[in-house]
Amino acid sequence: MTERQSIHGQWSSRLVFILAATGSAVGLGNVWKFPYITGENGGGAFVIVYLLCIAVVGIPIMMAEIMLGRRGRQSPINTMASLSQEEGANRNWSLVGWSGVLAGFFILSYYSVIAGWALAYVVRASVGEFNGLDAGGVQDLFNGLVGDPERLLAWHTLFMLMSMFVVAKGVKAGLEKAVTFLMPALFVLLVVLVGYAMNTGYFIQGVEFLFKADFNKLIYSCQVVNDLEQCEVSGSPLLVAMGHAFFTLSLGMGAIMVYGSYMPKKASIAGSAILIAVLDTLVALVAGMAIFPIVFANGLEPAAGPGLIFQTLPIAFGAMPGGQFFGTLFFVLLVFAAWSSAISLIEPAVAWLVENRNMTRIRAAAWIGLTTWVLGLGTVFSFNLWSEFKLFDKTFFDLLDYLTANIMLPLGGVLIAVFSGWLMKRESSRDEFAMPSGGYHLWWYLIRYLSPLAVVVVFLHAIGIL
Ligand code: PHE
Repeated sequence: MTERQSIHGQWSSRLVFILAATGSAVGLGNVWKFPYITGENGGGAFVIVYLLCIAVVGIPIMMAEIMLGRRGRQSPINTMASLSQEEGANRNWSLVGWSGVLAGFFILSYYSVIAGWALAYVVRASVGEFNGLDAGGVQDLFNGLVGDPERLLAWHTLFMLMSMFVVAKGVKAGLEKAVTFLMPALFVLLVVLVGYAMNTGYFIQGVEFLFKADFNKLIYSCQVVNDLEQCEVSGSPLLVAMGHAFFTLSLGMGAIMVYGSYMPKKASIAGSAILIAVLDTLVALVAGMAIFPIVFANGLEPAAGPGLIFQTLPIAFGAMPGGQFFGTLFFVLLVFAAWSSAISLIEPAVAWLVENRNMTRIRAAAWIGLTTWVLGLGTVFSFNLWSEFKLFDKTFFDLLDYLTANIMLPLGGVLIAVFSGWLMKRESSRDEFAMPSGGYHLWWYLIRYLSPLAVVVVFLHAIGIL
């Protein structure tokens, strides 16, 4: 086969691909979502399931996505269409690309609102609003923000504009440079926070919460009501852990596939995928080790929900020497982490518009940005005006989050696994991976059997069949 070329360009090196993909993977999912869903689902056992999902489901599917992207060299929709033709499969496999585009819209619409919180916190940290605040003060500060639709809207708008700007310029011009030093800086700052957490006197308790597994917590979800613990059987912690493995690695919706389509031919796919997954997991675990000791030291509730990091870290910044500076820096870096993820959420759609509708990147980014911004209003209001509107006991934001992370991404992932393991010829995937045969066989076994099976089992468990 003659090798295809992407019309959108190519990363300058393997390292740049790794940085970009890590930039996509490391984001609010690691620092904001991982701690709060771990808190809501009881800690250690949940974390173990999540780590297993990363290893058994996440890494093989990430390899598959990169491999498909690099072979197709187009937007995920067109890549799936071309490859299915080439491999003699039904052209409707391009639907995987379409569902990915839709999931990207949905995710970005709320992602941008949460990233807006981080933007707001940059300002708050820099003017010293956290100085000397106790847990109650920090909670009031948070509630003041999310209760005010106008402020949320303003920050959401700003973040969408930032994301559109970079996407319009093209990934290479803006982002390549930024991620190179921002990602390491975020990591260093998280480690500094762990240093603070170690001195709270509750470090061991925090780490135990994160790593000590009580598997009952995966089956029963318990709440303390009037000092009494009430437990009920719940199918969802497993599903949430698996869904989060997809979310945090940016899998199942074409983000990694489209980044793979800009990857140089010679770079190793397996090595890159493993490295990206390891870095992503490290950031999440370090964030957890920074946050839970602060939660326990201040008598806060680990299951506080989406506000968790915004109600814990400011306490640390308000109390530590140089906290104003470190706090500002931390939220700036969090914004950058979210930014480098946001652009990968819409790149599949932008690439498709450029390929099929002959649009410029600027126009494509503007259209997509506008649509996503409008959808984001639903999330803005779900924290205030519409907070009482619930479907299946979930607000608009909760529904979007559940639908994308726990259903659309894993489903997209299974389809990608089935396509690359069962429909694609072995010579094709083998040729694209170009790796030693032991590694290839391991991947092949995982992608055909174990990864899709694991997802299906978790789905069946969640709907009560298993
Ligand atoms: N992985 C990103 C995070 O953890 C979110 C994301 C999901 C980005 C899907 C792209 C695609 O924050």
